[in-house]
Amino acid sequence: MEQHHISVMISEEEIEKRVCELAAQISSDFAGETVKLICILKGSAFFACELAKRITVPVMLDFMQVSSYGSGTVSSGTVQIKKDLDEPLKDENVIIVEDIIDSGNTLSRLVPMLQERGPKDLRICTLLSKPERREVEIDVAYNGFEIPDKFVVGYGLDYDQHYRNLPYVGVIESE
Ligand code: PRP
Ligand code: MN
Ligand code: MG
Repeated sequence: MEQHHISVMISEEEIEKRVCELAAQISSDFAGETVKLICILKGSAFFACELAKRITVPVMLDFMQVSSYGSGTVSSGTVQIKKDLDEPLKDENVIIVEDIIDSGNTLSRLVPMLQERGPKDLRICTLLSKPERREVEIDVAYNGFEIPDKFVVGYGLDYDQHYRNLPYVGVIESE
């Protein structure tokens, strides 16, 4: 692939500091309990693992992959599950971990589906949020950074499947 010039929007150090803060908040909110982090593949993989390592209460991890629909089919009201969780959520403290919330359509459909499985608690944690892009209101318990409406890559976020492994969040500069 052609190489793009990518400028840093949020540095590795800033992300690490914020991940630590979010992990501390979660650890305090769930003191004495166990939390299950649900990593929404693929974008959330890096963030979910870094977050999990810094949470001090017992953590379980499970993984799910859903398809995002184009705007034309969003009205169908469901997400297609490409990979479901391995274990049930019944009576568990569940935190859905996302890399970014954009329109909010993915989570607005996923949350009710997971709620039906009877978790004790269900919250959302996202590294990034683009409030300007929101089409559906999403209740986010743990929000890393609110960012402007720019195309971002890195720390799990891709451009055509590339750049997920960048240790920072960057913006692709137009050539
Ligand atoms: C991205 C992102 C979120 C979702 C957010 O995933 O990781 O899961 O889109 O968009 P929304 O708020 O508009 O629904 P994507 O579908 O690109 O898959 P990926 O994580 O595998 O890159
Ligand atoms: Mn994703
Ligand atoms: Mg993507």
